[in-house]
Amino acid sequence: TRPIILDCDPGHDDAIAIILALSSNAFSPLAVTTSAGNQTPDKTLNNALRILTLLGRSDIPVAGGAVKPLARELIIADNVHGETGLDGPVLPDPSFAPQAMTAVELMALKIKESPAPVTLVPTGPLTNIALLLATHPELHSNIEQIVLMGGAAGVGNWTPAAEFNIFVDPEAADMVFKAGIPITMCGLDVTHQAQVMDEDIARIRAIENPIAQCVADLLDFFILYHRDPKWGFTGAPLHDPCTIAWLLQPELFTAQQAWVGIETKGEHTQGMTVVDRYGLTGNQPNTNVLFDIDRAGFIDLLAQSLETYSH
Ligand code: BDR
Ligand code: CA
Repeated sequence: TRPIILDCDPGHDDAIAIILALSSNAFSPLAVTTSAGNQTPDKTLNNALRILTLLGRSDIPVAGGAVKPLARELIIADNVHGETGLDGPVLPDPSFAPQAMTAVELMALKIKESPAPVTLVPTGPLTNIALLLATHPELHSNIEQIVLMGGAAGVGNWTPAAEFNIFVDPEAADMVFKAGIPITMCGLDVTHQAQVMDEDIARIRAIENPIAQCVADLLDFFILYHRDPKWGFTGAPLHDPCTIAWLLQPELFTAQQAWVGIETKGEHTQGMTVVDRYGLTGNQPNTNVLFDIDRAGFIDLLAQSLETYSH
């Protein structure tokens, strides 16, 4: 089984990524750490604890991360995720406390202890991951890969050029993409195809266990923001679960190796992921960029994973 650490900012789609990951025995979840992003750091930490409580997984250590981006003020996405960051379902209060250490300390400890190299799965701004890599160069060789949700080769969703996670902390993203560790980028090119439709939510609602019900409640709320016709969506894009789906079933995706640079200074392009699809820069590829997904296969994976919680 593959040791993984989930660094997230739950967040509806982050919560579903956690639920998907923990349904599979393909992973050994070493820790869940939280970043500030979709909501303030206190709320994303509390949300991670509430989701793990719902899953009965208080055995997984949790730690809160940096309270703001490396060089900027925090921007939150309460317009998407609501006042709590997980508006919609009724969730239990946390049954356990976070570790008395920071996200970076917990990640470093778990990576050091792990006999096999660890896969990091960041689904929020990359602040914690950048701090980990900068402060623990000796651990790089024990990180197998970073499978992240962020960026886009095409258009952004927070600005015309930038996706939210990268826009919030471009300096952190810049450090992560330059670190020399294998990266798989689940950007908007692929996640906007990973849409969950009304009929998919009905299929999930029909799965009779509390976890599936929670996911249906999360999706009922999450889809509201994405109903705005400006997006041209039929459903809601399940960004963050694409990371876990790629780890479980890479055959659902198409990908291309490319150099990716992060724009930290642009007048209109701050936080843009510049994806060199044609090798125009001459820079060596540093990222496996995902482009397409078999949507039906992805929804099947999600539904089948939720069914495992019935047993
Ligand atoms: C990303 O931003 C957040 O709102 C989502 O959780 C996802 O990680 C999509 O741009
Ligand atoms: Ca997220």
